[in-house]
Amino acid sequence: MVNNKFPDNFLWGGATAAYQCEGAWDEDGKGFAITDLLTAGTRRNPRKLTLEVEPGVYYPAKMGIDHYHRYKEDIKLFAEIGFKVYRMSVSWARIYPNGDDEKPNQKGLDFYRDVFKECHKYGVEPLVSIMHHDTPMALAIKQDGWLSKKTIDAYVKYAKTLFTEYKGLVRYWITFNEINMTMNYFGDVYGAGILSNGTRIIDINNVSDDAMSKEKQNKRFTALHNQFLASALAVKAGHEIDPNNQIGCMIASDAHYPYSCNPVNILAAQNSMRKLWYCGDVQVRGEYSYFTKRYLEEKGVTLNVTEEDKKILKEGKVDFYSLSYYTSGTDCLDQEVDTDSGNFNLGAANPYLKKSDWGWAFDPDGLRWVLNEIYGRYNVPIFIAENGLGAIDEVSDDGKIHDDYRIHYLREHTKAMKQAIDDGVDLFGYTWWGPIDLVSASTGEMKKRYGFIYVDLDNEGRGTLQRVRKDSFYYYKKLIETNGSCVFEED
Ligand code: BG6
Repeated sequence: MVNNKFPDNFLWGGATAAYQCEGAWDEDGKGFAITDLLTAGTRRNPRKLTLEVEPGVYYPAKMGIDHYHRYKEDIKLFAEIGFKVYRMSVSWARIYPNGDDEKPNQKGLDFYRDVFKECHKYGVEPLVSIMHHDTPMALAIKQDGWLSKKTIDAYVKYAKTLFTEYKGLVRYWITFNEINMTMNYFGDVYGAGILSNGTRIIDINNVSDDAMSKEKQNKRFTALHNQFLASALAVKAGHEIDPNNQIGCMIASDAHYPYSCNPVNILAAQNSMRKLWYCGDVQVRGEYSYFTKRYLEEKGVTLNVTEEDKKILKEGKVDFYSLSYYTSGTDCLDQEVDTDSGNFNLGAANPYLKKSDWGWAFDPDGLRWVLNEIYGRYNVPIFIAENGLGAIDEVSDDGKIHDDYRIHYLREHTKAMKQAIDDGVDLFGYTWWGPIDLVSASTGEMKKRYGFIYVDLDNEGRGTLQRVRKDSFYYYKKLIETNGSCVFEED
């Protein structure tokens, strides 16, 4: 029967990533991750990667929001909201500073143990991403990141270290954040640390043909294949080390529609959706899909998938599908229209939808749609690992942050989730992206804020770092207290 309640034990919470919040980038033996060496940028002025620390350059990851030193205060605030789950990532370079060191860094291990214990103190379940875009820099320089098979070995060793060290403290894991990032030109750096492909980050002004050259595509898809193997091997090891482990994939799953019912647009949108199925099919079904051959041929990609690889993929299927969902895009091939821009969607703007300050379309129905598409295809439990609104917040004269736009976004997406659950989708949790303001991945800004908790810090790293509860803080608290039903009461 349809009612306003979410399932009992639904996991409400929030999600962060190490390099976007921890700071302490070289403390206690930590090595550099590739994401540490991204300069600050803006939407129109893209971030850059430097191969070493350059004097006079501001790197947002250096300080993050100082979560490394303030995690107790931050987790206490999450607990005050009522989090059931906290999704976070471990920094590989904090555990193995060069990515493939013989022994792990004890101080790094201790740090995360303390964080997990702090979560459990409040009854908050940690959900851990093993890698969130932060390939250790040393591996990128030494072996071109994920292009090398040696990176698979290093990752599996690192993953096994985590499963062993944190057995009993962590049971929900994600192998790779947004693994489909590696299919895009900006995934060369972010997703796979392939330095020989150049250092371009998200650049909405310019996606040149060179970025899409056959040679570069080949490297990208080869690196992605290596990540699939690493993920599968980690899933298998994680189950062996602790059968209670639940290990998922994480795929950026923004909805894709045809701009119109012109069949050329329908086919174009179908092709866009294949970017989702490409990774999901391998990680959930354990094999490449029927459409892969032609899909890759058209990009000029030749992939070497051995019989041994096929076996590994089959044996390392994930337990659940997790996704990020922010926005939707449309495909239009038959006319010139304005373009849109989420981090992934550079398609045609949807005339029916409003956009955020950063041009991301607001589309809660798209969430319902995509959840149904995913569940219909895979029939495994689903977890929304990221969803949220990046916006400019003003501190009012009363010292508060009245972010009704964020509350609106949360409310409407929560309704959409409930619709999907009523449709029959097995959705077991939701973590809002950036429950505390943190560094934007695409632009490096602090100004693009997602949090329920405001952090006094600007784009240049100035501020007191003080944490302030926004209006949305109290709204999410109520939402969790009522297990989602308050979103319907206000109508
Ligand atoms: C996802 C990433 O792509 O989107 C996060 O997993 C990221 O790391 C989030 O922060 C929001 O994107 P942005 O660019 O607004 O920070």
